[in-house]
Amino acid sequence: MEEHRLTGTIGAEITGIDLRQPISDDLAEELRHTLARHQVLFFRNQHLSLDQLKALTRAFGPLMRLPYVQPLAGEPEVIRVLKEADEPGGVFGGDWHTDFSFLEQPPAGSILSAEVVPTHGGDTVWVNQAVAWETLPEPLQQLLAGRDAIHVGKPYGVKWAPPAKERAGASIKMTRGDPEADSERAHPAVIRHPLTGRAAAFLNPLYVTRLDGLTEAESRPILDQIQRHATRPEFSCRFRWSAGALAIWDNLFTQHYAVNDYQGHRRLMYRTTFAGPAPRELALSPTSGTGARRGSASLS
Ligand code: SIN
Repeated sequence: MEEHRLTGTIGAEITGIDLRQPISDDLAEELRHTLARHQVLFFRNQHLSLDQLKALTRAFGPLMRLPYVQPLAGEPEVIRVLKEADEPGGVFGGDWHTDFSFLEQPPAGSILSAEVVPTHGGDTVWVNQAVAWETLPEPLQQLLAGRDAIHVGKPYGVKWAPPAKERAGASIKMTRGDPEADSERAHPAVIRHPLTGRAAAFLNPLYVTRLDGLTEAESRPILDQIQRHATRPEFSCRFRWSAGALAIWDNLFTQHYAVNDYQGHRRLMYRTTFAGPAPRELALSPTSGTGARRGSASLS
């Protein structure tokens, strides 16, 4: 297995591995540590069946069933991320986000397997939330450390429902307009990675409405400033998909963004998610400082 870094801060393409073969415990362990180091791993020409995709997912953690998005028929743990060539409007994941961060236990990671890719466009971009945290101005670190942020399932609820023209198209069936999705969920605004020890801001604009102790109006300029910093190109990598390619990402320590620039072309991916510790279990303890200097903790 060889690692080829995509950028100086996030992402590595892995070669010399066939993920269609059974994954031993040792390999699963190596993959988990490699993911923790790079936050997103990319593999080309894998062409996994759904059973192989689920087996790979289980190497990282238990498969999850997610609410609101209708899964593939007969495959409750698989979402088909599809946009047809003639489908207008937004795309699934077309805003900066961390998958389902409003759940009590959001996915620890997600896997996307490319089946049909457009001739151009349709890339996905990820940002490293640990580097973003480590380089955040200290007053903002102090504001976030030990504080909760409030997450809400905005796209699926009533109060913050997106305008129709911005929604993902008809190919992805979602339950919308559920008042229950507007319930507030508090998660620590800063979490520490269980394998690397690195701290990261756990915030994203799709689901976070405010910081605990502040109103939405007070939180907005602060969250916007943090988000501008968190999505700097220096903290990002961008993947050009090919059929059979696969991305595995650490969901809690990254944000990602599906680029909607391939109108007139079909794009079909299969996505699974795996469970891990709840953000509360990863909270930066009030006595451990801002964590800004713990970024180089080594992996075993
Ligand atoms: C997602 O947000 O999981 C979808 C990403 C993509 O389709 O590129």
